[in-house]
Amino acid sequence: MAKQKKSIFVCQNCGYQAPKWLGRCPDCGEWNTLVEEFSATRPQRKKGPRVTPPAAITGISLDRETRLKTGLGEFDRTLGGGLVPGSLVLIGGDPGIGKSTLVLQALDQLARQGFRALYLSGEESPQQIKLRANRLSATSENLFVMAETCVEDVLDTLEHMKPHVLAVDSIQTVYTEAIASAPGSVGQVREVASRLMGVAKTSGMPVFLVGHVTKDGSIAGPKVLEHLVDTVLYFEGDRGHLFRILRSVKNRFGSTNEIGVFEMKDTGLEEVGNPSRIFLEERPQGVSGSVVIPCLEGTRPLLVEIQALVTASPLGMPRRTAVGVDHHRIALLVAVLGKRMGMELGDQDIFVNVAGGLKVDEPAADLGIISAMMSSFLDRPVPRDVVLFGEVGLAGEIRGVSQPELRMREAQKLGFSRCILSTGNLQGTKVPGNMQAIGVTSIQGLFEALFQ
Ligand code: TYD
Ligand code: MG
Repeated sequence: MAKQKKSIFVCQNCGYQAPKWLGRCPDCGEWNTLVEEFSATRPQRKKGPRVTPPAAITGISLDRETRLKTGLGEFDRTLGGGLVPGSLVLIGGDPGIGKSTLVLQALDQLARQGFRALYLSGEESPQQIKLRANRLSATSENLFVMAETCVEDVLDTLEHMKPHVLAVDSIQTVYTEAIASAPGSVGQVREVASRLMGVAKTSGMPVFLVGHVTKDGSIAGPKVLEHLVDTVLYFEGDRGHLFRILRSVKNRFGSTNEIGVFEMKDTGLEEVGNPSRIFLEERPQGVSGSVVIPCLEGTRPLLVEIQALVTASPLGMPRRTAVGVDHHRIALLVAVLGKRMGMELGDQDIFVNVAGGLKVDEPAADLGIISAMMSSFLDRPVPRDVVLFGEVGLAGEIRGVSQPELRMREAQKLGFSRCILSTGNLQGTKVPGNMQAIGVTSIQGLFEALFQ
């Protein structure tokens, strides 16, 4: 009798496996996400001694400076100083944000240094890739492209061609014959990625995987991939704006939250060397509701402008709109202003916006947001030469944040001469020359420092 293929049901949201179909995933609680998949048949393990015995950690030698530099400085920075041989880098982002462009440019740069680079596309034909490459002037002799979606064929090609670096665009379009489910399903994506990882780890070839992002913001196919790979980068930005931010959310070989800033031009992505300057370029003069805060993205300080517009509402339910900051945070700060300062904003429409399409999610931005709202409500501009940072607590107290010196130095570089921060932060901090640091302990203190 023929042996029946063993099937399992896998949740497409969290990867949970069940022996039978269920309407609701018991693990993540999502409805109708379980899909039947046939498990891959794995070859039996050979018996016998292990080939590589465990090594003492002191006996392992490291080759220093083995990272490949792509030559795109902002990209290398996000990777933690270059591409580590044998690593798997997952690049996620919304459709049309520029993932394919970024990867193609990076591969071209590597190819120009003499590395054989292979760009594998399951979404575009070689002619379409060529059209894009022409626009980007990514036309190095060592750059090869291939439209292929079967991972077994890809592995064959890799064996023959032995590229130094590979990009797969996108991982959801590639499938393995070993599993019967559709390309892009959890089982497929996981299996394809682990096959590629096998090649990467044994040959030392770094691999870029481009991944699509699902509606709820995680990389489709989903968390399983993030666990598997060494580095996860998100490419984000507002499509209405030209700036794109590459953010590392996981990195086995560098710090996370590191960012690279690019601008989308008609000839591709261009690095932005001094993002603080660009983000402040169009700042309005002497207008209420605009403040500048030095936030920290990974190890990098970045000056961004926060704008607030607080205006009497004609509606029974005043509007609260936040772009680039968390709206829960706005609600909290509005409550603190009402309770601790007697500044009632309950009947006001409030709009808060981070200029340039950036996202700020640090508590250090609290002081900036609350100052912008106060400034707009009172219609009194915040002095032009002031930056501020700090966390606001529920009692209206101002709390210290990390790296005050680094933030102040960035502000000083761009010509700001006064900085408002928590008194606690000020202690033991070396204030850069030409910079006046004003310590405050509560939002009343902040109000006095800004407007009196
Ligand atoms: P793309 O890299 O195809 O996005 P993704 O792979 O993330 O889906 O980029 C698509 C967008 O970028 C498209 O809307 C056009 C724009 N673009 C430029 O502005 N300049 C360029 O040189 C290129 C190649 C694309
Ligand atoms: Mg693409």
